[in-house]
Amino acid sequence: MKAIDIRNKFLNFFEKHGHKIIPSASLIPENDPSVLFTTAGMQPLIPYLLGAKHPEGDKLTDYQKCVRTVDIEDVGDNRHLTFFEMLGNWSLGSYFKEEAIKMSYDFLTKELHIPVEKLSVTCFAGDEDAKRDTVSAECWKKVGIPEERIYFFGKDNNWWIAGEEGPCGPDTEMFYDTGKQACGENCNPSCDCGKYVEIWNNVFIKKKKKPDGTYTKLTQRNVDTGLGLERMAMLLQGKETPYEIEIFAPIMKRLEEIAKVDEIQSRRIVAEHLRSSMMIIADGGRPSNIDRGYVLRRLIRRMTRHLRKLEIDLNEISNLVDLYVENLKEMYPELKENKEIIKNVLIEEKNKFMRTLENGEREFNKAVERIKKEGKNKIDGQTVFNLYETYGFPQEITIELAKENGVELELEKFDELYKAHQEKSRLGAKQKFKGGLAEQNEQTTQYHTATHLLHQALRQVLGEHVKQSGSNITTERLRFDFTHPQKVTPEELKKVEQIVNEQIQRDLKVTCEEMSLDEAKATGAIGLFESKYGDKVKVYTIGDFSKEICGGPHVERTGEMGKFIIKKEEASSSGVRRIKAILEK
Ligand code: ALA
Repeated sequence: MKAIDIRNKFLNFFEKHGHKIIPSASLIPENDPSVLFTTAGMQPLIPYLLGAKHPEGDKLTDYQKCVRTVDIEDVGDNRHLTFFEMLGNWSLGSYFKEEAIKMSYDFLTKELHIPVEKLSVTCFAGDEDAKRDTVSAECWKKVGIPEERIYFFGKDNNWWIAGEEGPCGPDTEMFYDTGKQACGENCNPSCDCGKYVEIWNNVFIKKKKKPDGTYTKLTQRNVDTGLGLERMAMLLQGKETPYEIEIFAPIMKRLEEIAKVDEIQSRRIVAEHLRSSMMIIADGGRPSNIDRGYVLRRLIRRMTRHLRKLEIDLNEISNLVDLYVENLKEMYPELKENKEIIKNVLIEEKNKFMRTLENGEREFNKAVERIKKEGKNKIDGQTVFNLYETYGFPQEITIELAKENGVELELEKFDELYKAHQEKSRLGAKQKFKGGLAEQNEQTTQYHTATHLLHQALRQVLGEHVKQSGSNITTERLRFDFTHPQKVTPEELKKVEQIVNEQIQRDLKVTCEEMSLDEAKATGAIGLFESKYGDKVKVYTIGDFSKEICGGPHVERTGEMGKFIIKKEEASSSGVRRIKAILEK
């Protein structure tokens, strides 16, 4: 069964069971500074898991585009993907364990026709925070999973939370037995040997973890599920790796044809990173040196490096994009709609990287000359690290060049510096998560509304081509990225600032309405119209000034917001400008 057929079957199945199909949210979390990318289906739904009323009701189903990049360096093996699609069904205070498990079982065995003998499940073993999940185990027995294939594990395996805090709970996971030889007597679904592959996770969310590590009870019981689409397609098609399914196969074949070097790992990396990059760019992501832009930059650079390794002409990137768009346009129409932008961004970034490589090589050659003069044959770790950090020069290229030049590298020292650097970034990322979703307070709400005013004012002053391409809000400022081909002049900025302040002084009322996407479009609301599925969206109207699709929250009246001041206007990436602004009380 093709991936798209699995997706459609899933959505139809849950629709038949009373769920509303909702669209995939963007990969770029809207107004959520806590995460770089959408990493799970539950992320855009967090406010509703915590109790907010969803416009589509309490039973939802969706496919969600996800990017997880913790293990970029692992891509190329036979299972890690940075971009993947997660299918989910949601109960927001409606059904719970028994119904969820029954539907999962029926979908797997009756719709996908997976023989029950192939299925094993795991449940939460219990600890001081929550009791053993015997209820789920009983439900599994009732539908037909024999006791010996029901396992219990602790929080490491059977507890789900996105990051450090927020809605969470015990989960029950379903595993597919590939039929491979067990790795030993104790082989079980929690083991990594490849016999068991996790295919679906049902999370039962009743609690919220607070920043101090304690738990509070939510007002409702939720179900959050996640089924990895590519993995399911791989298993149903009897393939060993996702690269053999129809999503990747045409690209893999083309790469094999045009490569001068036979290196399957590099082909996989190119195929995988190209798809991820295309999806991120289509959702408005652009390469840069920080946060998500940096992740995108790394993906494109790693892809470029492996294209070079395969000795593929880099001008082929454009043809590879065409091939992907052709192959995936039904699954992701946004790829077709943004094809030219995708190509431009990829090519520009590739060109930049090539210049980086040239600069890095020059620095490397200088280092070689220097050590030769000093009568040495080893480049010190600090220099190798500088090449990496300052010149963005990938370590494996330094290693290659060292081999070619017959010199050695002080890699232990490099590793030490590299680890310290990684730790710093990791702590930074953690900090970012902490400052995230929890922080929906008065200030961030005001900045949220100020962002809408700014967006509309920019469109009035600069033109209708202005589109949001990113937004980040803290308690101290807003940051807004938007498409515009050149620098915004000081006069234009002044005008924008003035318009926003006028709207604040008018003390406009902010109202929210729920309507279908088509209706929203018809009212002229701006915002993201991106999917073919789903009906209701929230449209926030600020007096007669702005109408925008958004999840909220917003102030009730603009008068309470203070004075709007633009602090900075700068380039964010090619064709994208960035404004930082504050509200002064
Ligand atoms: N939120 C759960 C997961 O991502 C379903 O595995």
